[in-house]
Amino acid sequence: MDWILALPWTERTDDVLDVGHARRVLDEDHYGLEEVKDRLLDHIGALALAGRLEGPILCLVGPPGVGKTSLGRSIARALGRKFVRMSLGGVRDEAEIRGHRRTYIGSMPGRVIQAMRRAEVVNPVMLLDEIDKLGHDQRGDPASALLEVLDPEQHRAFTDHYLEVDYDLSQVLFVTTANYLPQIPEPLRDRLEIIRLSGYLDQEKFAIARQFLIPRQLRAHGITPENVAWDADVLPSIIHGYTREAGVRDLERRIARGARKLARRTVEGAGVTDAVRAADLKDLLGTAPFDPSDLVLEDRVGVATGLAYTSAGGEVLEIEVSTVPGRGRLQLTGTLGDVMKESASAALSYARARADLLHLERDFHRTRDLHVHIPTGATPKDGPSAGIAIAAAIISALTGVALRGDVAMTGEITLRGRVLPIGGLKEKAVAAFRSGVRHVVIPWQNARDLPEIPVEVREGLTFHPVRTMDEVLTVALATTRSSQPYAGDAPTAAALAQ
Ligand SMILES: Nc1ncnc2c1ncn2[C@@H]1O[C@H](COP(=O)(O)OP(=O)(O)OP(=O)(O)O)[C@@H](O)[C@H]1O
Ligand SMILES: [Mg+2]
Repeated sequence: MDWILALPWTERTDDVLDVGHARRVLDEDHYGLEEVKDRLLDHIGALALAGRLEGPILCLVGPPGVGKTSLGRSIARALGRKFVRMSLGGVRDEAEIRGHRRTYIGSMPGRVIQAMRRAEVVNPVMLLDEIDKLGHDQRGDPASALLEVLDPEQHRAFTDHYLEVDYDLSQVLFVTTANYLPQIPEPLRDRLEIIRLSGYLDQEKFAIARQFLIPRQLRAHGITPENVAWDADVLPSIIHGYTREAGVRDLERRIARGARKLARRTVEGAGVTDAVRAADLKDLLGTAPFDPSDLVLEDRVGVATGLAYTSAGGEVLEIEVSTVPGRGRLQLTGTLGDVMKESASAALSYARARADLLHLERDFHRTRDLHVHIPTGATPKDGPSAGIAIAAAIISALTGVALRGDVAMTGEITLRGRVLPIGGLKEKAVAAFRSGVRHVVIPWQNARDLPEIPVEVREGLTFHPVRTMDEVLTVALATTRSSQPYAGDAPTAAALAQ
């Protein structure tokens, strides 16, 4: 009875359905993200015209710290609605969504009903955070309970096992977030409208830090932002030396740490620090964990640069292969998933089939052991998209011809050396660009994704769409660099349809 009385049944806030106002709010809270804001404004426009939001639920997908959760908050502010957040990370039990039956000791309503009680109105923006981290075990599948929450056909009469009274969720605006698309259970993904945030480039990070993070952190630590001058080279030093991420969360944490030091100095009577120089950084933040000059872009034998799409965004992978005389064993290390192991085998079979053309020893598969390693072993890696990079590294190791250090590649490989399309090209391209690579070999069919890539990245990189492994080698092997530079344009739609 207490719960029924505590829940909102009719109370609501009036929506502010003004696209211009919404635009201002979104711009006030977040720098950039033009495409994302545009899509959000479309939804707000539709809401203004139709009075209710039909159709799929928004899902913001992107690496950590790119502003998904805080965008959810902004959407609520833009619409003048209340905001409630519900984290789904680690929820394994259906009862956590839908409540326990009252016969159980200590039973409670589920999180949805609890969130509604916190909202105190029937029309909040409810952020279902980290929907890709839903677990499931023998106690039932929370994803199917969530389906009922998100399905417009069903959520008019949502039943919580504890409440046992239908509750109408139809006025709630649901927004979901996730880091990694493939991890969202399929039936849920089907009901979501995906909006992708691919991670920030350096210039965007500068602007976000300058306009949002630094003023916010300084103010939070009792320092008037206007009183502190930051030298121009401080921010680049922090970004390159202290962070390695797609989002800006670590950057914000570092800035906060610096702000604390400044605050302490002020209190200790060292006077208000009025300028921060790059030389002070070691004092403020400790030794930089990353050295931008670590990056090796030189040509090397048996080392290929691959690109991966993980829950942390795009990532540059170094793939190392070494060969020693032996009996033809293939060893793989670096916490690789099964799919990645299979692509290594496929790459090896391709090399064997092409042994003559590549001037490999005929019987290398019997006389040489191959060891494929993908360093920074702690992060699990999987997926077929490193196929061509593994093949290139194997061939380079066997032939002794170096691979170009400024070329990164991504693509699945078949036994016959065809190159198949991959996902996450946008994230991968952003990561490649950030790492300083200048050429990216991509599957021919992915050329159609090129327009999605941010302009700065597209201009800073040369893309080489390829159909076969032979073409990959033409671009990537150091020997062919001068004789056969890639000169083709991106394939036309007609060519792709072939
Ligand atoms: N474009 C931006 N403009 C201003 N601030 C931003 C921007 N992007 C991110 N931030 C800030 O970065 C911080 C981290 O963002 P947030 O917590 O929303 O990340 P997230 O995408 O939800 O990450 P996770 O997937 O780890 O939950 C927040 O303080 C947010 O305000
Ligand atoms: Mg978040």
